[in-house]
Amino acid sequence: MREIQNSPIGVFDSGVGGLTVLRELYRQLPQESIVYFADTARLPYGNRSASEILEFVREILVWMTQQKVKMVIMACNTSSALALEAVRQEFDVPILGVILPGAKAAVKKGKRIGVISTPATAKSEAYRQAIQEINPQAQVWQVGCPEFVPLIEQNRISEAYTQEVARNYLSPLVDCGIDTLVYGCTHYRHLQGVIQRIIPQTVRLIDPACYVVQAAKKELELMGLSKSSSASPTRFAVSGCSQVFSQLSRQWLGYYPCVESVSLPLSLTRTLAWEQVEVLE
Ligand code: DGL
Repeated sequence: MREIQNSPIGVFDSGVGGLTVLRELYRQLPQESIVYFADTARLPYGNRSASEILEFVREILVWMTQQKVKMVIMACNTSSALALEAVRQEFDVPILGVILPGAKAAVKKGKRIGVISTPATAKSEAYRQAIQEINPQAQVWQVGCPEFVPLIEQNRISEAYTQEVARNYLSPLVDCGIDTLVYGCTHYRHLQGVIQRIIPQTVRLIDPACYVVQAAKKELELMGLSKSSSASPTRFAVSGCSQVFSQLSRQWLGYYPCVESVSLPLSLTRTLAWEQVEVLE
């Protein structure tokens, strides 16, 4: 048992979005060791089909179980919306998604709820279903934001163009009079400054990252799996270019992480134009 308690928690996303969950883990569960995987060779997930997402998630979970993780947190709304239910039956490890914790938190804060997410998550209606199952009276507006993840992964957050794109996605929600806005994609917390310039101050922002980690903490305690000794350094692995990930992550981690490259079965890999760009020191 002791050995399992000391095992790491596996966290994955398509890219740097899951770092928002990782930061919450550092804050709320600092003693836990983490293995972070980013499927950067195949992002963005948000424009993929449900069957592709399911296939990718299965591959990642096989790799995670080989790393002997004691729990997996899907730090990716798209995977949580499209694959969580199926893979929970298939793998013998507790798997947590971000949508239910995010929906529960949103319902506590408001009744007119806007959700910004990838197109795949918006199309799945996962947030609407989760929110209205808890409060059928809550109104939900979902907006798919296809440009956000590429802009974040290309490190273009501070460009005027990003602000303009955000205004186009968010204005309809502001016009609907939302009182609560959910970051329905883990990448979007990185855009907080951009988003706060557009939405009224009275709108409450919900970051599901915070609540999925609360849920993970409870679950670990319930299963007697909490780690009490100090954490090992986080292990980072990516399917794409390790240098690009390390370079981009620094602004959120405060250091250049050492990143391993992992080859999953990459039959559907597309090389991304921006990964061919030379990495600047
Ligand atoms: N960060 C992920 C999410 O929460 C995936 C984004 C993407 O690759 O499109 O949905």
